[in-house]
Amino acid sequence: MIILKSKSEIKLMEEAGKIVAGAHEAVRKAIAPGITTEELDRIAEDYIQSRGATPAFKGYMGYPASICASINEQVVHGIPGPVALKEGDIVSVDIGAFFNGYCGDAAKTHPVGKVSPDALRLIETAKEAFFSGLEFAREGYRLSDISHAIQVYVEGRGYSVVKVLVGHGIGQAMHEEPQIPNYGPPGRGPRLREGMTLAIEPMINAGAHEVATLHDGWTVVTRDGSLSAHYEHTIVITQGQPLILTQEG
Ligand code: MF3
Ligand code: CO
Repeated sequence: MIILKSKSEIKLMEEAGKIVAGAHEAVRKAIAPGITTEELDRIAEDYIQSRGATPAFKGYMGYPASICASINEQVVHGIPGPVALKEGDIVSVDIGAFFNGYCGDAAKTHPVGKVSPDALRLIETAKEAFFSGLEFAREGYRLSDISHAIQVYVEGRGYSVVKVLVGHGIGQAMHEEPQIPNYGPPGRGPRLREGMTLAIEPMINAGAHEVATLHDGWTVVTRDGSLSAHYEHTIVITQGQPLILTQEG
């Protein structure tokens, strides 16, 4: 069952979303060669707590940190640690927070210092894939219209979409129905309705779509070692344009 949110619930989700956006901004400003991913985790956790919110990932199924920081061929769920970012790396940062009983969730991939044109193009494609999907995030379309638009955009740029990981509904839980694949035929699945709150999150690989999980039980990597990028926002379906609840600024 997809849980529709009332106007007042959406106000609360906006507040959670703003805190996630602020944490992203703080982390983005700190990203530079030499900083470790556990330092980024500390910055995000301090920010979230300073706003009276709670990190959504810490303790979720035993996850040990407040953010995911996934470097280069790591797709998602990289665990922050003492590893320093290097010039030329790309790092995908995923942050979630609960505030007022509601969750916000967002991710983006950043360059570390100067990176290759290929890496920048991959990062941009993940972001643009999200916005391609968002064009269909309105009443009158079905859920898989979002999925299809993402796949078409990404494959048209010569990259692949990860198939075994999906976006999701979000609200009082971080993961609610429906699941939102980043691929598939259009015109399937539930009709989109005002009050649906969704985390749309393309994960894309420069090479093939297959992924594997490292022995830490969390870190997902590309099987072929190619670079990967991620872009996610929490959004709400309205009667008109969708609202992005985790937008920075
Ligand atoms: N954005 C991810 C998701 O939607 C974050 C989950 S990471 C976890 O699933 F550590 F909390 F599992
Ligand atoms: Co998510």
